[in-house]
Amino acid sequence: MNQKRLLFGTNWKMHKTVDEATAYSKRLVDLMPQLGTNNNMQLFVIPPFTAIQAVQQVSQGRFWVGAQNMHWSEWGPFTGEISAPMLRELSVDLVELGHAERRQHFNETDSAVNRKVETALRFGLRPLVCVGEEAADKEYGVERETIARQVKIALNGVKPADAGNLIIAYEPGWAIGDTGTVAEVEWVRDVTAFIRALLTDLFGSEVAFSIPVLYGGSVTTQDAAQLLTTSEVDGLFVGRAALDPESFCEVVKVCLAPAARHASGTQTVSP
Ligand code: PGA
Repeated sequence: MNQKRLLFGTNWKMHKTVDEATAYSKRLVDLMPQLGTNNNMQLFVIPPFTAIQAVQQVSQGRFWVGAQNMHWSEWGPFTGEISAPMLRELSVDLVELGHAERRQHFNETDSAVNRKVETALRFGLRPLVCVGEEAADKEYGVERETIARQVKIALNGVKPADAGNLIIAYEPGWAIGDTGTVAEVEWVRDVTAFIRALLTDLFGSEVAFSIPVLYGGSVTTQDAAQLLTTSEVDGLFVGRAALDPESFCEVVKVCLAPAARHASGTQTVSP
């Protein structure tokens, strides 16, 4: 029986200095043996730009290290921005694009996310594309319309041959952060199945099923394993609960426990 490969990642947002990032990463490396030698599992950490190299130095490839954002241009007069060549030079394992906080606080549009996805792929970077409806969309029952728009625009022009490099994170805006509440399993199952159907329309089913679809938004040890019981979900994207390496590992541990693994699907997904 093939078990699908699970991804467990954390975006630190605007947290952690270089010293703090180094200490976290060392502790994470120390804790990783407790997770077992599981080839069907991949951890990733997305620090602020300033700490990427420090984290990579500690990780030495044991977990992936990503960037939180990127500009769509290769270079130019964009003060404060970071380009794809800059990230490629650092050999980051992925670049997160279109997080709800980028959309909310920095007016990041679907078409901006699309340009970033196109540039990331052109530079051989793996885009982790975040999509998800806001509370008002859910209230009016238009979450599918919002997600379809986000997915179709973000991935417009992506060739099926490149689409296998994508990772999608479903992160409803209303579930993220201090004021958020974790989504119910049935909701996550329906929406992630819908995302998979959109990917199938765009790229065909073989490619669509090779694209990991993660869930993120107020994930804790309480609900992590439960969220993975739906075979559409290929992993978890954790914020606050992973700001501490112990609790990040606890989240992963409860998901890898035999009972949880038994309950999750049998489809093979290899990012
Ligand atoms: P949270 O963040 O787990 O703190 O809600 C999730 C995210 O923004 O990815």
